Amino acid sequence: MKILIKGGRVVDPVAETEKNLDVAIEDGIIVEFGNNLKEDSAEVIDAVGMLVAPGLIDMHVHLREPGYEAKETIETGLKAAVRGGFTGVACMPNTKPVADNQTVISYIIDRTSGLGLARVWPIGAITRGSKGEELAEMADLKKAGAVAFSDDGQPVTGAGIMRRAMQYARMVGLTIIAHCEEPALVAGGSMHEGFMSTRLGLKGIPGAAEEVMVARDIILSELTGCPLHIAHVSTAGSVRLVKEARARGLKVTAEATPHHFTLTDQAVEGYSTSTKVNPPLRGEEDVAAVRQGLADGTIDVIATDHAPHTPEEKEVEYDRAPFGMVGLETAVGLVWSELVESGILTPARAVAKMTINPARILGIEKGIIQPGAVADITVIDPAREEVVNPNEFASKGRNTPFAGRKIKGLPVLTMVGGKIVFSRL
Ligand code: DOR
Ligand code: ZN
Repeated sequence: MKILIKGGRVVDPVAETEKNLDVAIEDGIIVEFGNNLKEDSAEVIDAVGMLVAPGLIDMHVHLREPGYEAKETIETGLKAAVRGGFTGVACMPNTKPVADNQTVISYIIDRTSGLGLARVWPIGAITRGSKGEELAEMADLKKAGAVAFSDDGQPVTGAGIMRRAMQYARMVGLTIIAHCEEPALVAGGSMHEGFMSTRLGLKGIPGAAEEVMVARDIILSELTGCPLHIAHVSTAGSVRLVKEARARGLKVTAEATPHHFTLTDQAVEGYSTSTKVNPPLRGEEDVAAVRQGLADGTIDVIATDHAPHTPEEKEVEYDRAPFGMVGLETAVGLVWSELVESGILTPARAVAKMTINPARILGIEKGIIQPGAVADITVIDPAREEVVNPNEFASKGRNTPFAGRKIKGLPVLTMVGGKIVFSRL
């Protein structure tokens, strides 16, 4: 089985280069880079005008299985992933049961293999049932294949238990991914606290609810020496805290979602529950700071926080709807339209935030494109435009605030282990 990706621009996020190169793939491995490589008997993919990148990785996805299969299954989630250009995803443990033990982690890994879609790296829970009371079986979780720990969806409210979790995580050599929110400050809010929340008559969640916990977790990371990754950074204050921590040499990394670098709380006008997400869409200065953090490298990763819900769950009053929006199938388009087209990120830097950077944080050998590497590859057409139509999603979730929005820069081919798992060429 030979495949030749011909005439594309290879984006190397490690060297931060773009080079016109043909890529030859044989038996699932990248065997050669070169110009005018011989076609022989290979299947040829015409990639003229396209970017050829290492397979994209989304390190923050809710696949919902086991337990919430009406929202998404591993299969539909992974179909959405490959359609969105992702060759691998890390999935959050807030399933039912919670992935706080080996059985659930093994179940997820078993369900994944044989589907022939994207790779999955499960994230184990920090605490049992993500209740924030007792530690999960962290060493066992790692043994079963967990690549990081998180109670995402819930904060770890107690500083004492977070400290112990970090001591353990450091011992087993995995990162803690922190969902930062102080419940006493969230206090039942459903959108960003500010002018808009007052106008719309909705209870607000102040930026401080996030920042208090970002600050706490940075301090605990320093105390314990545990690598800390801040999930879905949404405020200017959080960006500043991460930047300061990094300047002091702490092992702190951070991610931002496409919705947090694209939309402000203005989007909540009209009360569409597809705009309800946790952390909430913030103010203009926050969005500007997140973009700046992406540009200057403070924010290492772009991750979607893909969080599908059923229409029945979302079609209720704003304050009663669940938090979350789908993201896998709009991420690349938003990264390109919002960050690359505007010059905030070069293609290589944008790709780094969706390949090598998350791979390093999760400790997985991925995110590289070079001869000898396994052929996980994403081809992006930077000129291709699309109007977002949720009815075309492979995800069961249709809860996106981007329906009808024109995006430019689309994933057109997704290859996992040398197999084409999605193509719209
Ligand atoms: O909006 C969100 N939805 N934020 C989270 O942290 C959890 C997620 C979910 O699981 O629905
Ligand atoms: Zn979260």
